[in-house]
Amino acid sequence: MKHIAITGGAGFIGSHVVRLFVTRYPQYKIVNLDALTYAGNLENLKDIEHSNNYFFEKVNILDTAALQAVFEKHAITDVIHLAAESHVDRSIVSPLDFVYTNVIGTVNLLNVAKDKWKEDYSQHLFYHVSTDEVYGALGDTGFFTETTSYHPNSPYSASKASSDHFVRAYAETYHLQTVVSNCSNNYGPYHFPEKLIPLFINNIINKKPLPVYGDGLYTRDWLFVKDHATAIDTVFHRGKINDTYNIGGFNEWKNIDLVKLLCKLMDEKLGRQQGESEQLITYVKDRPGHDRRYAIDASKINTELGWKPSVTFEEGLSQTIDWYLQNTEWLQHVTSGAYQHYYESMYEAR
Ligand code: NAD
Ligand code: DAU
Repeated sequence: MKHIAITGGAGFIGSHVVRLFVTRYPQYKIVNLDALTYAGNLENLKDIEHSNNYFFEKVNILDTAALQAVFEKHAITDVIHLAAESHVDRSIVSPLDFVYTNVIGTVNLLNVAKDKWKEDYSQHLFYHVSTDEVYGALGDTGFFTETTSYHPNSPYSASKASSDHFVRAYAETYHLQTVVSNCSNNYGPYHFPEKLIPLFINNIINKKPLPVYGDGLYTRDWLFVKDHATAIDTVFHRGKINDTYNIGGFNEWKNIDLVKLLCKLMDEKLGRQQGESEQLITYVKDRPGHDRRYAIDASKINTELGWKPSVTFEEGLSQTIDWYLQNTEWLQHVTSGAYQHYYESMYEAR
């Protein structure tokens, strides 16, 4: 019987992972452990919040005593660790927030797991969810593989790289069983509208400018979030202990081409004239230290574990736009800040 703590389960990717595990594994106990920062939104999990095998604990991973209490209360057997500060632009403004949560929070969680599981590490797994940004930037060609050297360029990626190293060190030093995956850019439902795709969808709906950084020729490798969740499921159950897996969809897009595709699809769906939304594109000052290109070689997870993405980018993007157009209340709550009252109304009265 697995009792899995999924940290960051109220965030974008975490909520998809929680939903997948709660519905696919009714025999597991799934504990969503989340501090509910600005990025945590329990409205992301409304559809499964009454499931018998789902539990929510409002806990900051920096709080050792609270973590210990959750491990005891739920007899946690495994961890899937997604809680993090995740936005590069915020890391440039407030790097220390990223050091606290991503580095110290991860080490704190590792310590609690090490302590609570010390009777027999072979019965437990600490799965650390990381990013391709730890590898730095690529030129026009080539891919990140699992053996590419780390070369983080932003405070965000430096903090994630540091946490990856700590996970590795705990496996080597203390024999904690771990696994790490490094994924490319995700997109899909419940994505907070500060990141490129949901921000631009929201701005197109509201006919607001689309701020493209620098020359717009930066390249990202996009994966539908539900495919990332199935990859995490695969690695959690069948990944080799103390190994690393790169996750991606071989789906590179230059930002400006992606934005133009988004404008075209949204003009169609909104019944606007073709070309109307493209007029909203505005080139703005570049992000400092902006990585030119990311591209994941995801062949290891495919050949060793048989995982591959289920949707094409065009299908995934179309589904994503439809979701935002159908969930205007979610978008409105997020942009107005009203989602932050959901926890009080749902949980604090109980
Ligand atoms: P997100 O910002 O949407 O969600 C992060 C969640 O963590 C939120 O629910 C937040 O409340 C919670 N959290 C933050 N600080 C916390 C703390 N101190 N204690 C407890 N909970 C805390 O992030 P996301 O985009 O869903 O990313 C999830 C993970 O996946 C991160 O580790 C990120 O580095 C990694 N990742 C993200 C992407 C991507 O494209 N978004 C790609 C690869 C890897
Ligand atoms: O590669 C994985 C990473 O992808 C994750 O680890 C991060 O958590 C996630 O936020 C994402 O990082 P990026 O910086 O690539 O994502 P973002 O959506 O912020 O930006 C995507 C690209 O679009 C990037 O080249 C910057 C550009 N951009 C972004 C915003 C928000 C713009 O041109 N304009 C914008 O307004």
